Amino acid sequence: MGHGPVSDGVRVLPPNDPRQYDDLAGEWWRPDGAFAMLHWLARARAALVPPASRPDAVLVDLGCGAGLMAPHLAGKGYRHVGVDLTRSALEQAAAHGVVTVAGDVTAVPLADGCADVVAAGEVLEHVPDWRAAVAEACRLLRPGGLLVLDTLNDTLLARLVAVELGERLPTVPRGIHDPRLFVDDRALVVECARHGVALRVRGVRPGLRATLGWLVRRTRGGAARDVTHDGPAIRPTWSTAVLYQGRGVRHG
Ligand SMILES: C[S@@+](CC[C@H](N)C(=O)[O-])C[C@H]1O[C@@H](n2cnc3c(N)ncnc32)[C@H](O)[C@@H]1O
Repeated sequence: MGHGPVSDGVRVLPPNDPRQYDDLAGEWWRPDGAFAMLHWLARARAALVPPASRPDAVLVDLGCGAGLMAPHLAGKGYRHVGVDLTRSALEQAAAHGVVTVAGDVTAVPLADGCADVVAAGEVLEHVPDWRAAVAEACRLLRPGGLLVLDTLNDTLLARLVAVELGERLPTVPRGIHDPRLFVDDRALVVECARHGVALRVRGVRPGLRATLGWLVRRTRGGAARDVTHDGPAIRPTWSTAVLYQGRGVRHG
């Protein structure tokens, strides 16, 4: 599957081993770093979040990493609470204004109904029991609260595009995914419904021309101007077969 050693002097770890995030800690906010595409996705995910409808609104960001959503949520009126297993990432999230909670997304140490919004960006496909993470996401939402997420589908095409191709590009770290954990979109919708959230999904992808331009500039050594706002827009596409977003409200 192309899951050889994580190269470039970094220790060898199995696919999806969370310690990879410690080894890659310097990449989160590096312009054109290995997590560049996560910045593009964070911008698109945050665009699904409306301004807060009440004072003291809370957004819980499951698997927040280094808090890449933070700049895109600024001004929307939420207290941004991030949950993650990786302490080196949480330290960086805190430096970007995120209130951090060390914990597992399958057993979140936060109260039922505490969140106006729950975000789960690029995390479900890293969790051995994604259904438990979905149950937690829905539990945290107050009635009327909003779930936004994006993840990789459990398809052959997703394995080809996101792992075999994607992990050979500088936008995705090699060995970061275990495709056996990818999340079938129909099963995800069913699971959310079981927990009271009517999730709608749509396929998304980075704009192809902009991605090519980004790769060419990076290969030529051109500097990124702004890690947060540069980079291809993530656009809706007709198929959920590779990458998809979900958005749904919890009924009361
Ligand atoms: C691909 S990164 C996505 C980070 C962030 N959501 C973003 O889009 O920038 C996956 C993150 O999920 C975290 N993670 C993986 N499994 C987890 C678990 N079971 N509980 C909490 N965090 C987890 C990792 O530490 C990592 O920070």
